[in-house]
Amino acid sequence: MPILKSLVEYKEEGAVPFHMPGHKRGDVYKKVDFNFICNDLLALDTTEVPGIDNLHCPEGAVSEAQRLAAGAFGADYSFFLINGTTSGIYSMIMASANPGNKIIIPRNCHRSVYGAVILGRLVPVYIEPETDNELGIAMGVEPGTVESALDEHRDAKAVVITYPTYYGACSDLKKIAEIVHSRGMLLLVDEAHGSHFAFNKRLPMSALEAGADMTSQSIHKTLPSMTQSSILHVKSERVDIERLKVFLQLIQTTSPSHILLASLDAARAIMQEKGRELLDDIIDWSNWARNEINKIPGLYCLGPDRIGKYGISDLDPTRITVNLGASGISGTKAEAILRKDFNIQMEMSDLYNIVAITSVGDSRDNYERLVRALKSIGNSGTGKAKAPTSRAFLKSTELSIMPWEAVYCEKEQIKTEESIGRICGEMIIPYPPGIPSLMPGEVITQEVYEYLRLCVEQGIKISGASDNKLEKVWVIKTGH
Ligand SMILES: Cc1ncc(COP(=O)(O)O)c(C=O)c1O
Repeated sequence: MPILKSLVEYKEEGAVPFHMPGHKRGDVYKKVDFNFICNDLLALDTTEVPGIDNLHCPEGAVSEAQRLAAGAFGADYSFFLINGTTSGIYSMIMASANPGNKIIIPRNCHRSVYGAVILGRLVPVYIEPETDNELGIAMGVEPGTVESALDEHRDAKAVVITYPTYYGACSDLKKIAEIVHSRGMLLLVDEAHGSHFAFNKRLPMSALEAGADMTSQSIHKTLPSMTQSSILHVKSERVDIERLKVFLQLIQTTSPSHILLASLDAARAIMQEKGRELLDDIIDWSNWARNEINKIPGLYCLGPDRIGKYGISDLDPTRITVNLGASGISGTKAEAILRKDFNIQMEMSDLYNIVAITSVGDSRDNYERLVRALKSIGNSGTGKAKAPTSRAFLKSTELSIMPWEAVYCEKEQIKTEESIGRICGEMIIPYPPGIPSLMPGEVITQEVYEYLRLCVEQGIKISGASDNKLEKVWVIKTGH
């Protein structure tokens, strides 16, 4: 039983979990003295027998829980999701645009947005985020960038914005909402990392507050619910709810786990009753940790000094993004040391940065352990700054055929150096900055080839590609 074994082993290691899910191994339930299903998991795992509601046509407990969630998060309607925010993103995008319609998306959006573009057979129009070249991270999208794209593509149906980004950066969503709505389009938000915003005024405003028509939130990432459980919220008269329900039913399993649904309801209840004070604590501890980390030579913790630059209008104070560029230690190496020597597991790392997801499940002790460990790691650095990548990301290349067409075309795998001029058959995403350099259907140019080689040479992880060393690449067979 290799899966169970790996879970038990990781649990027994007892690492400080600076990663999702936000209940932090159930620690939050201990904090609020609530015994959430812990002892009775299997006895509660059941299907839609009489007395148990149906997610796909809710009339009882699920309907009531969704109504309570809508009230707590400030939505007109809330739909519980058991296939993650990915299923919310698929549904909200496909409910907003017909095949062949244009949709405006940031080039650094999550792969689920690209997935919706492929499944919905949509025409993507890319907008470029601002990039912080010093940290090597793609940050927010400027409202002016959205405005120019909308002026050029007046026939687009909707705009998608990631708010906040994985690193905690928030674009000026309120201004973007005004621009989008003035053109009669829909604003769809990927708020996978921002479900907690609704529960404390010291956090950035929630997407719904800023004017989003729909927003998909991974409650499991930053609030205390179980992995895979998310919510899609709607606050708009512009959204066709019946059409949205069709896609939710198409995309999600017909056997939803009621334990996941119950965990969403529990997260809502905890946040409604105790959320503000629990969040006050972790905001204070995060701010303390940020100050302490900034005293460590060679380390920098992303903070309010960057607001107003790189498309950042606000930052999530609970997200701890540490840049190690000036210490001479790579983010990937720091993440490995933290796990091996200090029993601390981060959410992710890239060449220069490590990222911790902190949530209401964390204790003050967790933050103190992280700061102590980073002091020790900082002191062991060479102090020789790493040369940042010469370009943080590349502009989109020419879309030769639509991404969905490329998925169905016959492909062949060839040497990357021989692929220039060919049409790419896969997604190639250097991390950092996490922006696809190539999407299926895009022409591989000399420029993108050289950029990708540089990324590989500098040790940047290539995500999405079948060969992560990029010696080979899948391209569309000629004749298509
Ligand atoms: C920015 C962003 N959007 C969407 C998703 C998808 O969320 P889920 O894993 O809940 O499907 C993720 C997951 O990591 C993400 O980081």
